[in-house]
Amino acid sequence: MNFRPPILLLTVLLIPGLAAAGDAESGEALYAACIACHGENGAGNAALNAPGIAGQSESYLARQLWDFKNGRRGKEPGDTTGAQMLPMAAMLTDGDAVANVAAYIAAMPATQPAATIEGDVVNGQKLFTGKCGACHGGQGWGNEALFTPRLTVIGDWYLIRQVGKFQESMRGAHEDSTYGKQMAMMAKTVSEDELTDIAAFLNEQGAQQ
Ligand code: HEC
Ligand code: HEC
Repeated sequence: MNFRPPILLLTVLLIPGLAAAGDAESGEALYAACIACHGENGAGNAALNAPGIAGQSESYLARQLWDFKNGRRGKEPGDTTGAQMLPMAAMLTDGDAVANVAAYIAAMPATQPAATIEGDVVNGQKLFTGKCGACHGGQGWGNEALFTPRLTVIGDWYLIRQVGKFQESMRGAHEDSTYGKQMAMMAKTVSEDELTDIAAFLNEQGAQQ
């Protein structure tokens, strides 16, 4: 009889960011270190520059934590808010810790951040459908298969700031930032006014499907 070792499974487990889904229960204790900024329910805190993360895609959360750990995010000159996450991600000492805290956060009920901007929702919808929806989903709820995050849980101020970072090469600029590079290209296609309208449209979509 032939026995084939499960090489594919091993490969998946060994690649950070692609690791098997984490254990949310074990992640709860780790999340205690995140509450001061992201809040008990993961809704974020604009005054502390910390985005809403509850209900975000698990694979996206894990990838961002790895990107902070590996210096692909938060290390570019001028990225002061990104830099705040570096010691936090470093505290998650191994792949299990990253996977488990990501699983815990992803399982929290998504929250709808309060709107902080006003814009033209109808124009925002047109722009979003044309430029963003193919990857982020028609209502901005994200698409795991395309590695895109939910845009409805993060907060409008954070959305606008992050697109600005992609535009200014403070994010998605690292040579190994495969997915960040995709977004950096797209970010360069929108103006500030257009982005305000897009954010206004996303504010109308509700946090979750
Ligand atoms: C001192 C405040 C602070 C603490 C504590 C903190 N964070 Fe953050 N976090 C931030 C800030 C600020 C950002 C926004 C970074 C940026 O502007 O690019 C952020 C961003 C993130 C992101 C990226 C979200 C996205 O949508 O891209 C994740 C994921 C994250 N934090 C997870 C965690 C986890 C998990 C912990 C606990 C282990 C934690 N954070 C602790 C301040 C904090
Ligand atoms: C080609 C696919 C693609 C298109 C089109 C696209 N994005 Fe993205 N976007 C991504 C990917 C992939 C990421 C995750 C990047 C990473 O992992 O760092 C992302 C990340 C983001 C983030 C960061 C969210 C966070 O939590 O930090 C924002 C904001 C964003 N996109 C907004 C937009 C907007 C607005 C548009 C339309 C103008 C758009 N995207 C179009 C692929 C795309």
